[in-house]
Amino acid sequence: EGLLPFEHEPYHTFQDEAVAARQRDAFRAVREAYVGRTFPLIIAGQDAQGGGTFAVRNPADTRETLWHFQNATPAQLNEAVAAAQAAFLEWRRTDPLQRASIFKRAAELLRARRMEFNAVMTLENGKNWAEADGEVAESVDHFEVFARETLRWSQGKAVYPMPDEHVTTVYEPLGVVACISPWNFPSAIPLGMALGALAAGNTVLWKPAGETPLSSYLMAELLFEAGLPRGAVQFLTGTDDVLGDPLVDHPGVRMIAFTGSKEIGCRIYERAARVQPGQRWLKRVIAEMGGKDPTVVCADADIEAAATGIVQAAFGYSGQKCSACSRVIAEDSVYDDLLARVTEKARALKVGLPEENAAIGPVIHQGSADRISQFVEAGRTTARLVLGGDTPDTGERVGAYVSPTLFADVDPADPLFQQEIFGPVLTFTRARDWEHAIELANDSEYGLTAAFYSRDPHKIAVARRDLHVGNLYINRKCTGALSGTHAFGGYGMSGTNAKVGGPDYLFWFLQTKTVAQRY
Ligand code: NAD
Ligand code: ALA
Repeated sequence: EGLLPFEHEPYHTFQDEAVAARQRDAFRAVREAYVGRTFPLIIAGQDAQGGGTFAVRNPADTRETLWHFQNATPAQLNEAVAAAQAAFLEWRRTDPLQRASIFKRAAELLRARRMEFNAVMTLENGKNWAEADGEVAESVDHFEVFARETLRWSQGKAVYPMPDEHVTTVYEPLGVVACISPWNFPSAIPLGMALGALAAGNTVLWKPAGETPLSSYLMAELLFEAGLPRGAVQFLTGTDDVLGDPLVDHPGVRMIAFTGSKEIGCRIYERAARVQPGQRWLKRVIAEMGGKDPTVVCADADIEAAATGIVQAAFGYSGQKCSACSRVIAEDSVYDDLLARVTEKARALKVGLPEENAAIGPVIHQGSADRISQFVEAGRTTARLVLGGDTPDTGERVGAYVSPTLFADVDPADPLFQQEIFGPVLTFTRARDWEHAIELANDSEYGLTAAFYSRDPHKIAVARRDLHVGNLYINRKCTGALSGTHAFGGYGMSGTNAKVGGPDYLFWFLQTKTVAQRY
């Protein structure tokens, strides 16, 4: 297809002082260029003011207002849907090679601006340098992968032939796709959904999370700079009462691509099932939701490697990843040793400013810290608190900081074991043996990621077969899926299993046409 081979975008090595200096410069440049500015909506290719604005604050110190975005009005939602419908008539007909070229060009543009995108993300959602860098690298990968996927899906597929008919199976786009995203991956997640839609020939209503709109705005602008027609993406920010239910219900929307909480995902799934007056299709929904991701450690495992992987996956970005390890299930004979190693490593993590690349930054806002605290307070009476459970001292800073927290001897029925906490809280549960450990790991309504540590080929084979998750990692941590390689999406209440970055993702954004022709 003329685009291979593909290589994952390498990460920056911030241990190198020259590289670190570039990242620090980028913070200065981003502050100079963007702080204090008010950004527009983008509707029908034009910048637009909404019916008021909202402020985005730095979660690391909420006294700092970063920038402002617009609150779209109900009339602007209607205009945006109409504009996306109009643009669809053109974009759906573009040559797939042209689409792929735009994504390739966008990859080049993003490579040159990685430090800037890192800095914006750190300021908006409190990721440290490495976490932000990993996500922006994933965004570059998305451009490269979707360029290839555009061409691959444009070929159609072969069917079993008939002697007297020429039969083709081709894929066609759906229409207007609303892409609704969360704040915890403000670059790669909205981009993955938008590229899925655009690669397939659909047009996009791009609705970022209110906490992190600049990461999305800059990405949409970068796509335009790379050659995407401005009408192909409508960029909409605002309140959930205008861009939540009304966007989902809108009869002009053909598909909703959502990533976020189980609560909102289920709500969207249900509402989208109702056919609205004037609607001429059944809406398609992909909804990628939460996780309660286990790490199983068998007695024969490399315990030190498991402890390292667990700490990275549980406490990286303060556990605010759908993929984060939140439950450790260890065989009885290694439980105490593993717990001691994980406790020691977690205790060494320093809480501080993400802009200074601290290991642990703030959680996204006080509401989230309060929710985490409710779980912790309840856990004090139902389980054994081994570490944390308090608010770290962060001096003058006004932010929602939560210490890495570890509970041992957690009962599988405990909410600590069953509910997504979305913070730096990790539970340990003792298993009788490795088969019991797999059973406990599967005792969840979720099924997103899991890690399994063992060196025994038989145990590994059983884990591969029986662990009920969309992303299973053997002898490595359960976070850090790479686009194009680790197709990402879960089982059960973790969502529709659409598998972004995987070989079947584009199918969700397409419909299939069979043409049988006799001569
Ligand atoms: P959220 O569900 O609160 O919000 C997600 C988006 O939905 C936001 O843009 C929000 O404005 C919008 N929204 C709110 N109400 C809506 C409505 N009624 N209709 C339509 N949209 C509405 O989630 P969040 O707090 O931003 O993100 C955290 C959650 O996302 C966690 O549960 C996490 O596990 C999940 N997540 C899942 C994945 C995955 O790939 N499975 C990836 C990242 C995050
Ligand atoms: N794709 C992200 C990860 O794998 C959520 O950690």
